[in-house]
Amino acid sequence: MTQNDTTEPFEPKVVAYCCTYCAYTAGDLAGSMRLEYAPNVRVVQILCTGKIDAVLLLRAFEDGADAVYVAGCAIGDCHFLEGNLRAIQTVAHTKKLLAEIGLEPQRLEFFQIPASAGPLFAQRANEMTERAQKLGPNPLRKTMKQNAGRKLDKAPDQHPPLPQAKHGQLYCR
Ligand code: FES
Repeated sequence: MTQNDTTEPFEPKVVAYCCTYCAYTAGDLAGSMRLEYAPNVRVVQILCTGKIDAVLLLRAFEDGADAVYVAGCAIGDCHFLEGNLRAIQTVAHTKKLLAEIGLEPQRLEFFQIPASAGPLFAQRANEMTERAQKLGPNPLRKTMKQNAGRKLDKAPDQHPPLPQAKHGQLYCR
């Protein structure tokens, strides 16, 4: 038996945050048009891409996503005026954070997908899945597996008590 026989093929997990007015509607249209696209994509419906923040995007990677994209209305079409502009900045900023923690910034992207663009929705889904396949598994997944069975050094209630706070002082653990 060769190495390839024992290892499972890599199926990337891709998370797509899609704004309800454009990208999500385009996804619906892609379904109505019976367009095929990679089943690896998990679509998360959000009101507007302006709602996205770096913590949410990083959390998706921390939870094991191999690629993440944010898909919203075309520039000038956001129902909340500048939500997509804000999302573009958030994605650019988060890409820098990814590079700092050792993840490829290409794992994250922003796309403009108008509501009428069903084929574009399918194309972007395939594109990000292929990209994740080329980049390989998210290295954080391995760390998560290693930590999965690890027990805490101490049970939460075994920590020493906090020192008595003086007036106006706040202790955080
Ligand atoms: Fe679609 Fe704002 S409503 S990006």
